[in-house]
Amino acid sequence: MAKKNIVIIGSQWGDEGKGKLTDYLADKVDFVVRFQGGNNAGHTIVVNGKRFAFHLIPSGVVRGKTVVIGNGVVIDPRVLLHEIKSLEEAGIKVNLKISTKAHVIMPYHVLLDGVEDAAKGKYAAGTTKRGIGPAYSDKHMRAGIRMMDIVQPDVLREKLGYIVPIKQKILEIYGVTDRLDENAIHEEYVAFGSQLRQYLADTEYLLNEALDSGKNALFEGAQGSMLCVDHGLYPHGTSSNCVAQGASTGTGVPMKKMDYVLGIVKAYTSRVGAGPVPTELLDATGDQIREQGHEYGTTTGRPRRVGWFDAVTVKYTSMINGFDGICITLLDALEGIDPLMICTAYEHGNERMTRWIADTNFMKDCKPVYEQMRGWPKRTREEWRTTASKGYGTLPPEMRAYVERIQSIIGVPATFLSVGPGRDETIVLKDVFKD
Ligand code: GDP
Ligand code: IMO
Ligand code: MG
Repeated sequence: MAKKNIVIIGSQWGDEGKGKLTDYLADKVDFVVRFQGGNNAGHTIVVNGKRFAFHLIPSGVVRGKTVVIGNGVVIDPRVLLHEIKSLEEAGIKVNLKISTKAHVIMPYHVLLDGVEDAAKGKYAAGTTKRGIGPAYSDKHMRAGIRMMDIVQPDVLREKLGYIVPIKQKILEIYGVTDRLDENAIHEEYVAFGSQLRQYLADTEYLLNEALDSGKNALFEGAQGSMLCVDHGLYPHGTSSNCVAQGASTGTGVPMKKMDYVLGIVKAYTSRVGAGPVPTELLDATGDQIREQGHEYGTTTGRPRRVGWFDAVTVKYTSMINGFDGICITLLDALEGIDPLMICTAYEHGNERMTRWIADTNFMKDCKPVYEQMRGWPKRTREEWRTTASKGYGTLPPEMRAYVERIQSIIGVPATFLSVGPGRDETIVLKDVFKD
């Protein structure tokens, strides 16, 4: 039987626990691959009580797997080098391959991010200010710098020669007074190139040849489907394709080689940044969920907005991605809250709808329609761990009812449940590597 290739995708607004599941499943694959986004991502994993937060390096690195940063990712070389160094200092071997075609985040991208966003007023996304949007804009304008350029000093010089004067003018339009020093940027990025050269590879060949020879890969999505530039709540999202289809364009591995799409579904809603969140809770229950789920951004430390589970959203993203199975995470974080609400429809004026309308002005006026579920009592961390080891039958009956209701509304089976950040706080309902 051929080994399976799995795509892990966030079904909501990011921070669903993609990193945890990637680390959990990485044991069974040869490669772990990032295919979109950049260091706007913050993926947390907990191994034997030790916490790691990854922004660019795929979360499979702790398992000693070959980790690949595909062509669809935008790379800030300073952040990447820092991440490599921290891992090596922690005694972790970094077996990394980077696509020569991946685009590079330049200093002017970081300067422009934030000011461009703020100028959008009510249409701002509240970005992570890591230069993600400006770097993807340049990529699509065909004015980007790629990894292959920073190892060719003459090419980099030529490109900076026409790009930097234009960026300087754009910065002035936004009232940014920083001066761009073309020579200093050139020198700095050539130095980054000489340190990163050893990791560069034609990753589309590397991956396709490896998969054709019987090896397998885990494709680790970043952000969440509602932040996708095509299918999310435009313009309050990010600038890449966060849906499963991005795994193919972002790596050069054809879609027919992807065997299983696993949607990561948080048991409630969280959101960092701006834009309508129909089920948002601005009361004490919201505060309780935020504290119990430690909902503070991994990348920016911002408190995350939280709300009830929105089944309309997840049903929509499940359709777009074609989830084969879902993993419901952070179930433990809802402990002690009774009743719980699941949003099954929206009301807009006199109209009731069960579809997403990707129009921010429309969505901001949608009121959630709820179905009420029973909550479950609190358990200690040790008790959740014991529960996970004993399996589904030992979960509180109210939690099982909640999980079953989510599965039945979404129409996709839960293959994993997660009741804590650690590997041993995971319940496997189906082995996704088997048919
Ligand atoms: P990602 O961006 O999707 O990888 O998610 P983040 O790492 O940004 O945020 C998820 C947070 O929840 C992290 O701090 C995880 O360690 C933690 N986490 C993941 N699964 C669970 C779970 O089932 N229960 C609890 N309590 N925490 C979890
Ligand atoms: P992970 O991979 C949550 C949000 C930002 C902002 C919008 C655009 O950890 O789930 P950007 O900097 O990408 O231009 O910001 O997207 N955002 C995320 N929210 N988790 C993430 O990543 C995110 N990456 C970007 O808050 O609203
Ligand atoms: Mg995150």
